[in-house]
Amino acid sequence: MKKILMMLGLSSVLVLSLNAAEKDHRTMLMKDMRSMLEAMEIIQRGGLYSSTEEMKLGVKKLQGTLKVLESEEIKFILPKDQVYAYKFAQKTASMLRLYSDDMITSIEAGHMDEALEDYNQLLKQCTSCHIRIRNW
Ligand code: HEC
Repeated sequence: MKKILMMLGLSSVLVLSLNAAEKDHRTMLMKDMRSMLEAMEIIQRGGLYSSTEEMKLGVKKLQGTLKVLESEEIKFILPKDQVYAYKFAQKTASMLRLYSDDMITSIEAGHMDEALEDYNQLLKQCTSCHIRIRNW
């Protein structure tokens, strides 16, 4: 009996620490999401103030967060009942990479209309995942 109780105690400690680990991952990922938002704000501000330097800074910041979106780590904030969610995350990450690379090219070529279109496409990736995954 004592042994069983100890085992039960041990397994609930394990469950608790697993939950804690999951919470830590979630916290980190939400921080990454907020960095992504900051990056988008920097790009937007750069565009409005006609500062190509600031726009490029924002793009670099955004690209720095993409590793997380591409990694298995993202599964911690994706719904477990949606099997396609991880594949979808990888797809949006590669689209974000594509359009952000293209944005740098457009800025450097002085094609601000194309850079703006890239920005719209980037934002579309964010909302498309949020709509799907958060069931808005
Ligand atoms: C692959 C899916 C996916 C993509 C792409 C994505 N997000 Fe998210 N985002 C999420 C999920 C999942 C949450 C958390 C949902 C929840 O539990 O409320 C979230 C939450 C957020 C939050 C709220 C953070 C908080 O502290 O509450 C912000 C801000 C955010 N995302 C910004 C962005 C921006 C900006 C982009 C695009 C550059 C982006 N996200 C792209 C999945 C995604």
